[in-house]
Amino acid sequence: MGEITGRSTVTGIIGHPIAHSLSPVMHNAAFAELGLDWIFVPFAVEPGRLGQAVEGLRALGVAGYNVTIPHKVAVMEFLDRISPEAELIGAVNTVRLADGVLTGHNTDGIGFLASLETDLGLKPAGLSVLVLGAGGAARSALVALGLAGTARIALCNRSGDKAAELAGELAPRLPGCELAAHPAERLADPGFVGSFDLLVNTTSVGMRGDWFPGLTLPQGGRGPAVYDMVYAPPVTPLLARAGELGLPAANGLGMLVAQGEAAFRIWTGVQPPQGCMAAALARRAAVGKS
Ligand code: ATR
Repeated sequence: MGEITGRSTVTGIIGHPIAHSLSPVMHNAAFAELGLDWIFVPFAVEPGRLGQAVEGLRALGVAGYNVTIPHKVAVMEFLDRISPEAELIGAVNTVRLADGVLTGHNTDGIGFLASLETDLGLKPAGLSVLVLGAGGAARSALVALGLAGTARIALCNRSGDKAAELAGELAPRLPGCELAAHPAERLADPGFVGSFDLLVNTTSVGMRGDWFPGLTLPQGGRGPAVYDMVYAPPVTPLLARAGELGLPAANGLGMLVAQGEAAFRIWTGVQPPQGCMAAALARRAAVGKS
C-alpha cells in the first residue's frame, strides 16, 4: 500500500463484527496494483449507532463503502437514493457518495451471476433453477436470476412459510420468470432435484460440515450443476457429493470476489485488474494456513 496523504480517497466497510472481513485485502490490493491513491478501511459499527455512522462517513467524505451483517437492510433508511435492484432485493451492500448524495446499491446479485458464468459457464437466460433458502442471500439470487431471464425458479426452505412469502412477494415483480415455493420435503425426491439445470444453496448449511435436511442429489451424472454460496470450508459436503456424482460444482468464493469487483467499479469508475482480488484472497488464505 502506498503512503496515505491528505489527497488519499477513503473507502471501507461497515459491519459488526468486522474483524474477519476479507474485503480490505481485496480492495487494497486492487488500489495498489492500479497505483490509485485510495484506501479501504474496516469500521466496526454497533447496530444502535448505524445512523450516526452513516452521517459521520458522509461528513468525512468517505467516497464509498460496503455494508455487511447486520446493517444491509437497516442502512437503507439513512441513504438518499436506492438503486432499483437493491430496492427489489430489499438490501444494500454498497454505498457511493457523489456530490453529497448517498446512493445504495446491491452487488451481491451481479457477483453471483458473474461467478455462475466464470466458474460454471452458465448464463441464466432460459434456465430452470432450484434455490435453497429464503433469507437475504436467497433474495439477491432470486432477483438477479429473475432479472436475467431465468425461465423457472423453485424455492425450497426449511421453514416453508418463509419460502412461500418470499415467492409471493417477488413473483409479481419478476415478470417472465415462473417463481414458486415448494415444500422442502420435495428435496428428498431425486427426480424433482434432477429436473433443474442448476441448484443454488443460499443458506448457511455446509459451513459446519452439515447437509441440507433430506436433500437427495440424483445419481448417474444427470443432475443439476451445483452452486454453493458458502466458501468456508471451500468444499462443503454438498460440493463434495456433487463432485462424486460428476456434477459441475462451484463454491461462493467467485461471488465474494465478483461482488467486490462490482463495488470497486461503482466507486472508482474503473475495472479492477483481472484476477487481482482473487489472487489477494488466495495469498491471504495461504498465509492463514501457515
Ligand atoms: P442470509 O441473509 O445470509 O440469507 P438469513 O436471513 O439468516 O441469512 O437466512 C438463513 C437461511 O439459511 C434461511 O433460509 C434458513 O432457513 P430458515 O428460514 O428455516 O431459518 C437457512 N438455514 C440456516 N440453517 C439451516 C439449517 N440447519 N437447515 C436448513 N436451513 C437452514
